[in-house]
Amino acid sequence: MSVRKHSWAEPYKIKMVELLTMTSREERMEAIREAGYNTFLTKSKDVYIDLLTDSGTSAMSDRQWAGMMLGDEAYAGSENFYNLEEAVRKYYGYRYLVPTHQGRGAENLMSQLLIKQGDCIPGNMYFTTTRLHQELAGGAFVDVIIDEAHDPDSPHPFKGNVDLDKLDRLVQEVGSDRVPYISLEGNVNMAGGQPFSLANLRKLRAYCDEHDIAIMLDATRTMENAYFIREREAGYENHSVREIFRDICDMTDGCTMSAKKDGLVNIGGFFACNDEELFKRAQNLVVVYEGLHTYGGMAGRDMEALARGIEEAITEDHQAARIGQVRYLGEHLQNAGIPIVQPIGSHAVFLDARRFLPHLDQDEYPAQTLAAELYIEAGVRTMERGNVSAGRDPETGQNRRPALELVRLTIPRRVYTQAHMDVVTDAVVDVWNRRESIKGLKMVYEPEYLRFFQARFEPLD
Ligand code: F0G
Repeated sequence: MSVRKHSWAEPYKIKMVELLTMTSREERMEAIREAGYNTFLTKSKDVYIDLLTDSGTSAMSDRQWAGMMLGDEAYAGSENFYNLEEAVRKYYGYRYLVPTHQGRGAENLMSQLLIKQGDCIPGNMYFTTTRLHQELAGGAFVDVIIDEAHDPDSPHPFKGNVDLDKLDRLVQEVGSDRVPYISLEGNVNMAGGQPFSLANLRKLRAYCDEHDIAIMLDATRTMENAYFIREREAGYENHSVREIFRDICDMTDGCTMSAKKDGLVNIGGFFACNDEELFKRAQNLVVVYEGLHTYGGMAGRDMEALARGIEEAITEDHQAARIGQVRYLGEHLQNAGIPIVQPIGSHAVFLDARRFLPHLDQDEYPAQTLAAELYIEAGVRTMERGNVSAGRDPETGQNRRPALELVRLTIPRRVYTQAHMDVVTDAVVDVWNRRESIKGLKMVYEPEYLRFFQARFEPLD
C-alpha cells in the first residue's frame, strides 16, 4: 500500500488544462429543447461539467502522450501492436489479442463467432450494445444476475454476482448446447457499477466446466471490480489489484474490452482469448469489419497509448483516486438526502429517478426527464439508464419498463476536481428542491437500434 492510506488524493498533478464555459439558464433551456430533451444530442460546447460517460473521456498522462509520438503507422505489424499484445499478456494473461476500434467492435466479432441462431446467452445484466450484438447474431440474452442487483436500495456488496440457480434453470430448460457462453461483466454498468466476487466467479467456473460452457468476460471496468474485491472480499485485503485482476482473467476463457474505460484512452478496444482456433477465426473476421488483425481499427499511436494506459490503470494509486472521487460525490449526495443506488459504484453515482420523481409514470420517462433538468439547472450533462435505454421487448413491442430507472452521473477518469463534484452536488440538490413541479416527457422520435442515443422528446403539458 502507498503512504496515502487515508486520502484518495490524486496521484498526479495537472500539466495542461482545458477551459470550461458556463452558459445561462435561458441558453441551456434552448439547447436542451433543440436536442429533443436528450443529453446525447446536446453539444459539448454547451456543457459545463460533462458526466455523460466515463467512456473515452479520460485524461491521458504525459507518458501516454509521449507514446502517441511513437506511433508506428504501418498497415501491417506495427510495433505498437506488439507492445499492446505484451501488455495484455502481462496483465490480463490471455494468450491471443485482436484489437478493435472500440468495445462494440469486439462484441460484434465475439457474437458472430460464438452464437448460433436460437442460442441463449446468460449474463449478469444486459449492456445495451452487448445485448444488441447477441440479438443480431441470432441469440437471446437471459438475465441471470442476483435479484439484489435490481433493487437500488439493497446494500449487497457484490450485486454483480451471478445467480447460479437462475443459470441452472436456463441450462436445464434449453440444454447446455444452446448456451455457448455466459457473458460476465465486471462492475456491472446497468446495475450501478456493481462488482462480482471471486467466490462467485469460482463457483461459476466450476458450474461452467461441468456443463461445457465458456465464460467470456466483459473486461471494460474489471480492474475497478478488482479494487472492490480487495476492499470487500474476505481474504483479499492483502492482495494487489493486479493480482486480483489476473485471478479474474485466469478464471475466464476470453474477453471483450472497451479500452475507453479502464484503459485510460480516448478510443480503442479488443477481443482476447486463450483458444487458438477461436483466435484464428477472430483474426480472420476482424479484417471484414475493423481492419487488419494487427490494428483492428486503431491507429498505431492509439495502441501505444493503450499499452501504457493499462500499466497506469492497474496501480493501487490510480484505483484509490478513481473510486475515491466517485465515492466522494456519492456520499455528499447521500448526506443531502438524495436517493441514489447503493452501494456507490466505481464509475458513476446513479440517481434513483423513481424515488426522485415518484409522481411520473415510467412511460413518462422519469430518468430522461431528470437528466434534462440537471442540464438546465447547471449545465451538468448526465445519462438516462432506464426505460429509454432498456428499449422495447422484441416479442411484445412494449417498453421494457426495467426495475431500475436511473440517471447516471458518470465520472471521467483524471478529469474533474473535488470542487467540480461539489458543484454537481449543489445542482442535484437544487433540482431535488423543486422536484414536485417537474413534468415528464413524451417520445416523439424513436430510432430502430439503441434508441436512447438518438430518440427525441417533448415536455408533457
Ligand atoms: N460493455 C460495457 C460494460 C460498456 O459500458 C460499454 C460502453 C461497452 C461494452 C461498449 O463499448 O462503447 O467502446 O463500444 N459503455 C459506454 C457507456 C458507452 O457510456 O457506458 P464501446
